Amino acid sequence: MKTPVILKTIEELKEWRRGINAPLGFVPTMGALHAGHLSLLKASMAQNPHTLLSIFVNPTQFGANEDFGKYPRTLQADIALAQGVDAIFAPESKEMYKSDDEITLNPPKLMGYVYEGAIRKGHFDGVLQVVLKLFNLTSPTRAYFGQKDAQQLLLVQKMVKDFFLPLEIVPCPIIRDDDGLALSSRNIYLSKEERQIALKIPQTLQKIARLINEGEREVGKLYEFGMRELEGMNVDYLAFCNHTLEPLEQIIPTQTLILLTCKVGNTRLLDNLWI
Ligand code: PAJ
Repeated sequence: MKTPVILKTIEELKEWRRGINAPLGFVPTMGALHAGHLSLLKASMAQNPHTLLSIFVNPTQFGANEDFGKYPRTLQADIALAQGVDAIFAPESKEMYKSDDEITLNPPKLMGYVYEGAIRKGHFDGVLQVVLKLFNLTSPTRAYFGQKDAQQLLLVQKMVKDFFLPLEIVPCPIIRDDDGLALSSRNIYLSKEERQIALKIPQTLQKIARLINEGEREVGKLYEFGMRELEGMNVDYLAFCNHTLEPLEQIIPTQTLILLTCKVGNTRLLDNLWI
């Protein structure tokens, strides 16, 4: 097993990148690695002779009242988990942002300001900004993103298409804990009781999927069913949409994304299912 090279500065990254002349897989993360992140690394290592992981808690994608300060930072543990990758780029903020008045990106009007974009104002501006910077710095052949963050994945795919970026985005399936909860770096915020409550999220998605499998196509009915299942939970949104995030009235098999986001205690939990 290779032990990854740790790159802290852009200069170090550029020098390392100059030495790579075979396909490079790139996995951008904010660290606090779990099996979800590791599945992305595994996919990249299977498909590319070289894999680069980035770990950067990106300040521009956090709102003023969000958890930027307390987001878990576990670099040493992350390095130990990332055995087999060629290198880890783990810069400080000042490496990535040289000025506090930079050119920024706006996500597209239809896809960028619904769901997470409506609740977390400016979030996707920051995500697209840092992802574009990282793509430009790393020039990957392929970059790996989890379907866990469905809207982020769709927006990154759109940015690559709209800006003719010369790389391929590889979507990776959601990895779940044994109890069904989608893995997230934020799950550590949940108390034991909250975690039990949170299980309603994947369970409700599964129950909706079962009804669809049994032939139900009416989104109105599925929505009502889902909201009844989630009674007492703090639901941010339960939505049925297509790959451009437009709401559907009827389920279109293989082309329907069901998004479910709830707040459990102070923790927002995202989950989704493609039908
Ligand atoms: P982060 O939340 O660390 O996630 C990094 C990548 O891991 C994302 O592509 C995310 O979708 C994926 N991921 C997280 N949990 C997963 C799970 N349970 N199963 C499969 N994949 C999972 O997403 C970000 O960081 C940031 O917004 C980033 C893209 C790095 C830009 O700052």
